[in-house]
Amino acid sequence: MRATVSRKAHFNAAHRLYRKDWSMDKNELIFGKCNNPNFHGHNYELIVSVTGEIDKETGFVIDVKILADLIKEHIEEAFDHKNLNVDVEEFQDLNPTAENIAVVIWNKLRPLISSDKELEVVLYETPRNFVTYKGE
Ligand code: NI
Repeated sequence: MRATVSRKAHFNAAHRLYRKDWSMDKNELIFGKCNNPNFHGHNYELIVSVTGEIDKETGFVIDVKILADLIKEHIEEAFDHKNLNVDVEEFQDLNPTAENIAVVIWNKLRPLISSDKELEVVLYETPRNFVTYKGE
């Protein structure tokens, strides 16, 4: 029997969407308000899901306390109250769109969860806008 275990988490962070190699006009055209040079913030909501066999002895797919601690240590502490463009190494040369943030989160967590389990990351940038990444 397989099941999916999910954990919700949260972080606040600032970002700016732009490309250094594009003109201000082109950045404005493509990224609009998200190109504000003074940055702007979001309340990101994160749902991390792990799918796999239910262990016969424990009844767990993954101990959700362990999953919660991994998210706290590797994601919330790295991103919460940070300026993603300035403070987070992964975004020095990568636009911190919701898509790219979801990929970075997945890449950070994937090595920490046993490879016989599937991992999916859903990242809400606003209550209505969210991105799903599962390593494909
Ligand atoms: Ni934004």
